[in-house]
Amino acid sequence: MPTITFLPENQTYTVDAGTTILEAAEQNGYPLPWSCRMGRCIADLLTVVEGMENLSHPDPEEENTLGIMGEPDTRLACVTRITKGHVTVRRHVTEE
Ligand code: FES
Repeated sequence: MPTITFLPENQTYTVDAGTTILEAAEQNGYPLPWSCRMGRCIADLLTVVEGMENLSHPDPEEENTLGIMGEPDTRLACVTRITKGHVTVRRHVTEE
C-alpha cells in the first residue's frame, strides 16, 4: 500500500491507493488546512519533496490554480491522489 510522509513533523502514514492527500491527512488526524476542497484555492498547498511520479496528474482546475503560483513542485492536497509507492510532502500553511 502507498505511504505518505508529512513534513516538517515527519509523520508517515499508510493509505489506500487513490486516496487524496487531504483524505490521508484527515484519516490519520494530521492537521492539514483546507477551504474549498475543489482545487480552486491554495489553503492546502503542498511542496512535493519526493514521489511526484506516485501522484495523480493535475486536473485542469488544479493546473489553473497552480499556474498562478508558478512553483513546479507544488500540489493541492484536496485533489491530488496518491496512486502508489511513497510520497513526501511539506505543507506551506501551519495551524497555530
Ligand atoms: S482546499 Fe482549496 S484547493 Fe484544496
